[in-house]
Amino acid sequence: MTTFSTVVVTGATSYLGAHIIDQLLYDVNKVVIGTVRDENDKFKYKALEEIAEKRTAKERLQIKQVDLENEVEVANVIKNASYVIHLASPVVFHTDKTEDPNKIVDPMVKTTENVLKACRDSGSVKKLIYTSSGGTIYSPKSYDEDHSYNEKDYNPDATKDQYPYYYGKVVCEKLVQDFHKENNAPFDYVILCPTFMLGPMLGSAMSESDLRSSVKQFYAKVKTMVQEGKGEKRTTPGLVDVRDVARVHVLALCTEEANGERVLISTPSASTWDQMVSRIRASILQSDTDDKKTLLLKEKLEKQGTFEAVGDEPKRPTKFDTTKLQRLFPEPGLRKIDDTVMDTVKYYIENELLL
Ligand SMILES: NC(=O)c1ccc[n+]([C@@H]2O[C@H](COP(=O)([O-])OP(=O)(O)OC[C@H]3O[C@@H](n4cnc5c(N)ncnc54)[C@H](OP(=O)(O)O)[C@@H]3O)[C@@H](O)[C@H]2O)c1
Repeated sequence: MTTFSTVVVTGATSYLGAHIIDQLLYDVNKVVIGTVRDENDKFKYKALEEIAEKRTAKERLQIKQVDLENEVEVANVIKNASYVIHLASPVVFHTDKTEDPNKIVDPMVKTTENVLKACRDSGSVKKLIYTSSGGTIYSPKSYDEDHSYNEKDYNPDATKDQYPYYYGKVVCEKLVQDFHKENNAPFDYVILCPTFMLGPMLGSAMSESDLRSSVKQFYAKVKTMVQEGKGEKRTTPGLVDVRDVARVHVLALCTEEANGERVLISTPSASTWDQMVSRIRASILQSDTDDKKTLLLKEKLEKQGTFEAVGDEPKRPTKFDTTKLQRLFPEPGLRKIDDTVMDTVKYYIENELLL
C-alpha cells in the first residue's frame, strides 16, 4: 500500500512557493496543501492548478484559504501533515521611512509563532522548513568587500527602523531556534537563507502588475535598459535561481544532516546592475533567433543605439561562502547566474512585457 506524506506550504501564491509546489508534485507519494489568503482570487494560483492538471496530480494538490495569523486555522491545516514549509511573509526589500515597521514585522512573527505551535501540537509533523533571507546574513548597504559572508554572520543593519523586513526575518529565525530548544520540540527544522531570487515565474503575466517580488524589481532594471539605454553602476545583492532555491527546500525535507542548520543559498558573488543589463543587451543584439518577439526587441535595441552606465563607482561585489550549501546539497549544484538572468528576460519577452 502506498503511504502518502502531506506537505503544507504556506504562501502558495508566491513566486517561490509555486516553484516548490511544482517540484513537490513530481513525487507521486506527496500530497501538497498550499495555503492562500483568498481562495476566490484564483488568478494568483492558476499556474499551480495548471501544473497539477498537466501532471495528473490534481487530487494531490489542495489549495486552502487560511488566515495564518489565526492560531486555530493554522492548527487545523497543519494537524495531519508530515512536513511544513513556512514561507508566507510580507516581502519588502525597500521601505519608505514613513511606513510603520510593525506592519511588516508583526505578521511575520505572529504567523511563525502559530506555525511553530501547530507543528509541536500536531503529533505528526517531522520537519519544518523556515524560509528566511540572505538579508539576515549581510547588509547590501554596508558589507565588507573583503569578507566572504556565511551562516555565522548577521546583518548589522537589520534593525526594526532601517530594514524591518530583514529584522523580522532575524527575529523569526531566532524564534524557530529558541522555540525548538525550549519546547524540546518533537520535530526537526531547517532555516534556509536565499539571496535575491531570479528566474521565470510559473504561469503567465498579463502585465507588469502580475509580476511578483524580486522578478518585479529586476524587471524595472531591464525596462530602464530597454527604454532609456541605461544601467546603474550599483552593486546587485547576492543572486540565485528560484528553481534552485525551490529544489533545496524539497531536498531539505529529507536531508537529516541539515537538521537544526541555517543555510545560505546563493551563487558565490554578486555583480553590478550595469554589467548585468549590458550583458543582457549584448546577448539580445547578438542573438540569431527567428522568435518574433525577440526580433522585435532586438530591433528596438538597435534603434536605440547606445548604452550608458550611470551613477557613482560601486563597491566591489559581495562575496558568499557557500561551503555548507555544497556540503549538504552537493547535487546538481546551482545554475550559472547568467543563464538564470537570461531565462528571466525570456519570461518577460514571452509575456510581451518589453515591447
Ligand atoms: N524573492 C526573493 O528574492 C527572496 C529572497 C530571499 C528570501 N525570500 C523569501 O522567500 C519567501 C517567498 O518570497 P517570494 O519572493 O516568493 O514572495 P511573494 O511572491 O511576494 O509572496 C509572498 C507570499 O506571502 C504571502 N503573504 C504576504 N504577507 C502575508 C501575511 N501577512 N499573511 C499571510 N501571507 C502573507 C503572499 O500572499 P498574497 O499572494 O496573498 O499576497 C504570498 O503568498 C518569503 O518568505 C521571502 O521572504 C524571497
